[in-house]
Amino acid sequence: MPKKFMIQVYGCQMNVYDGDRLRGAMTSLGWEETDDAASADFVLFVTCSIRDKAEQKVASELGRFRPLWDKNHAPRAALLGCMAQRTGREFAAKFPWIRVVAGPRHLGAVPAALEASIFDGHTHFHLDEDPNALDDLACAPVARNSPHKAYVTIAHGCDQFCSYCIVPYVRGRFGSRAPDEILREAESLISGGVREISLLGQNVNTYGKDFVGHNAGYSFARLLRDVSGIPGIERLRFTTSHPIDFTDDIPETMTDSRVICPSVNLPVQSGSDKVLREMNRKYTRAYYLEVVRRIREALPELGLTTDLIVGFPGETEAEFEESVSLLESVRFDLVHSAAYSPREGTPAAARADRVQGRERAHRLLRVNEIQAAIAREINERLIGSVVEIILDEPAPKGEGLLQGRTRTDKVVLVSADSGEIGKTRWVKITGAGTWRLDGELI
Ligand code: SAH
Ligand code: SF4
Ligand code: F3S
Repeated sequence: MPKKFMIQVYGCQMNVYDGDRLRGAMTSLGWEETDDAASADFVLFVTCSIRDKAEQKVASELGRFRPLWDKNHAPRAALLGCMAQRTGREFAAKFPWIRVVAGPRHLGAVPAALEASIFDGHTHFHLDEDPNALDDLACAPVARNSPHKAYVTIAHGCDQFCSYCIVPYVRGRFGSRAPDEILREAESLISGGVREISLLGQNVNTYGKDFVGHNAGYSFARLLRDVSGIPGIERLRFTTSHPIDFTDDIPETMTDSRVICPSVNLPVQSGSDKVLREMNRKYTRAYYLEVVRRIREALPELGLTTDLIVGFPGETEAEFEESVSLLESVRFDLVHSAAYSPREGTPAAARADRVQGRERAHRLLRVNEIQAAIAREINERLIGSVVEIILDEPAPKGEGLLQGRTRTDKVVLVSADSGEIGKTRWVKITGAGTWRLDGELI
């Protein structure tokens, strides 16, 4: 009987990529994937620590295994990824069904650890304290959900140490993957039928800055050019970009390419210079606005999104209003907004001047309302236009509707049969809401 695994992924797209590679590694060892926890030998949790809520979700999910464990001594659980790095020992002591713990820099050890733990009954820990250590999975990702779309992580870790953020502590030091390794992976995905690739990293545009030796000078713009030149690729995206490294060669390369999508996520985090300084973001509001101006100048049809934190320690009402006014002046297509969540061990979490929880929630509500109105206005202006989409999947709500994305990364719902999934189609936009456009196939 082949052994069975189930996999649950939380957090960012880098985790989705890690989950897809774990899936590939386990399948190549002869394991079978299942959706039914009760029949699994191991349930793999690929976890996130970015906010307290992300960790709580996994904690409560893990807790639900107690009755099954008491009855069958199965399934075992593997706590993997960012949260494992931060809380793995504590959780393994609390939940005896956790039999493998591995941080995001040690996923390469996971397949063998799962088998060893079944064999010897012990709990296996892979939590090196060295932030430069990297024992990566060597296999290509196996995407279950959309065979025509794939992620490729191009750089690990982060060296920015924004004062609120846990990522540099759990993911370790920034390190770019070698360009030939990335190109080989992208080529193999494309020859397997993938047509849309998203390059991933906490700061993709910092790519290559750490190269010494024969790759020195190889930049993110160069990587964009090389990946977009692979025969058979239709769309190339990338996320996330840090404003300080968004050099002009990036929009220039994007303008020259029909493959690289005019879509950028450029996290601003705050509109206030004082808050930005205390966040250790290393740019000012004016600098950010100038970067946006230059990108839009090169790419007029750009889809622009951002990340924003409200209620950072010490953020006054007036400083919060500066974030609101920034949203109103830039007019993003989408804002990933979050209320500040203290992360133990980060400098901001040690501050005594926290904004009260209720006030944080109130500010979050306010930016979401303002942004919803902006997004709706932007989308309504697209009614009547004709755009190209790739049909991704059935729409979560709505019988007979499929959803796809424009090159600018907007979701479009169209009535089409499921045989159209994966196809590139032109649609006329007939309706618009805050989160979606409606279209008709033409
Ligand atoms: N590397 C990217 C994104 C990293 S994490 C960047 O530099 O912007 C994704 C988002 O989570 C961040 O952009 C930030 O908006 C949010 N985030 C990170 N830490 C947070 C915290 N402690 N509380 C609330 N939101 C946080
Ligand atoms: Fe976190 Fe800042 Fe690094 Fe982004 S750049 S991952 S917010 S430390
Ligand atoms: Fe979360 Fe780790 Fe990604 S903390 S956002 S899964 S890098």
